Amino acid sequence: MTSSTNQSIKPVTTTINSAGNLQIGGCDLVELAQKYETPLYIIDETTLRTICREYKKAFSGYEKVNMMYASKAFMSKAIAKIIASEGFGFDAVSGGEIYTIHKSGADMSKVLFNGNNKSYDELTLALELKVGRFSVDNFFELSLLNEVAKSHNKKVDILLRITPGIECHTHEYIQTGHLDSKFGFDLSQVYEAIELIQEQYTNLNLRGFHAHIGSQIFETKIYEDEIEILIKEIALIKEKFGITFDEINIGGGLGVKYTEEEYPPSVFEIGKLIIKALNKNVKKYSIPAPTLYIEPGRSIICTSGVTLYSVGSSKQVPHGTKYWAVDGGMADNPRPSMYQAKYSAQVANKPNCENSQKVTIAGKFCESGDILIKDINLPELEEGDILCVFNTGAYNYAMASNYNRFQKPAAVLVNNSQSDIIIRRESLEDLISHDVIPNRLD
Ligand code: LLP
Repeated sequence: MTSSTNQSIKPVTTTINSAGNLQIGGCDLVELAQKYETPLYIIDETTLRTICREYKKAFSGYEKVNMMYASKAFMSKAIAKIIASEGFGFDAVSGGEIYTIHKSGADMSKVLFNGNNKSYDELTLALELKVGRFSVDNFFELSLLNEVAKSHNKKVDILLRITPGIECHTHEYIQTGHLDSKFGFDLSQVYEAIELIQEQYTNLNLRGFHAHIGSQIFETKIYEDEIEILIKEIALIKEKFGITFDEINIGGGLGVKYTEEEYPPSVFEIGKLIIKALNKNVKKYSIPAPTLYIEPGRSIICTSGVTLYSVGSSKQVPHGTKYWAVDGGMADNPRPSMYQAKYSAQVANKPNCENSQKVTIAGKFCESGDILIKDINLPELEEGDILCVFNTGAYNYAMASNYNRFQKPAAVLVNNSQSDIIIRRESLEDLISHDVIPNRLD
């Protein structure tokens, strides 16, 4: 089966240039580090567009597909613009994501608002910005959204978020489809929800189901199980209520390759399997083929992103670990400390040198747990080397913080030897710009 971009550790344009440095998108990484300073997030436009196109191709065998990008993986106005230009819609989970997508100029009818505790203000903003779908997570929200829609004199299209009861083998913090999850209606609550919509919540127009099993998934079978559960439920609803759902959203979750030891399935394998499962089950349960929504986040953006750091101090623990510290860490990439996530890296100015030593890359934040990569083989390091950590496109900038009052790094988009800032580096003034000293303290 053809391979796809999520199966590669590095952006597709990664090479070593004539200066002997790593290069991405035709740009020398050492020069980028000098020009924009470090830490620096880099997004390779070619890799991003390639995976979007692979997804579209992989699902082209199914007539009615809506590709949505899960904004939570990494959202900025430029990212939204690129992804929208590839024909994708968006899954958004906050007023902030919705506002960013709106400001990028994207078609808001292709946005799905999702989340387990959307506020009145967020629902109002979404309605006013004409978001196309709402995935309703619980009974409280059915009532709240109906109230907001009624006050705007609108009828809104909704999906019911359900918990299909599937366990996937990923980190427990990123599992979502199991029965004891905080997300969605239990299957046993679905009839009651439909009755409420039919009888009381007349400003809601129920179109179908939404589910999401988890993230960084490598097992393909769970998508087959998920589809069967959803289609079977649609058939039961048709029999009981005489209504036919015409949409299913199966969430995101496809994994990426962070290290050499990991083998995620390709987008093509997943596409083929999902289409086959859909066709098989609509036949088995005699329902019309629904429009399919999928909403990958990580597998769309992760491989296109790398982070550059400057190497600083080092410490050799007598008879123990050799630490090298870089100028970032858990505030720009909390994943290693939160999920024990593993990453691959290379020294951008020494890509041809032999990996002669085993070291641990530490961050500069005041926590012992701030270790970016434990036990990695790298060439001899020196202060000022530029370390390139791969696969940081997803859930890095998106989860970055100002811990220890560090400024969030800049993000740069590279393509065809051109580099452009897409997110400015925070300044010290930015950092204090929301601080207020009450007069009485003067
Ligand atoms: N749809 C829904 C409803 C979701 O909750 C998520 C992710 C996605 C789609 C996209 O999933 P993806 O294709 O990116 O796996 N911060 C964690 C990941 C949290 C994922 C949350 N939900 C991490 O860094 O691993």
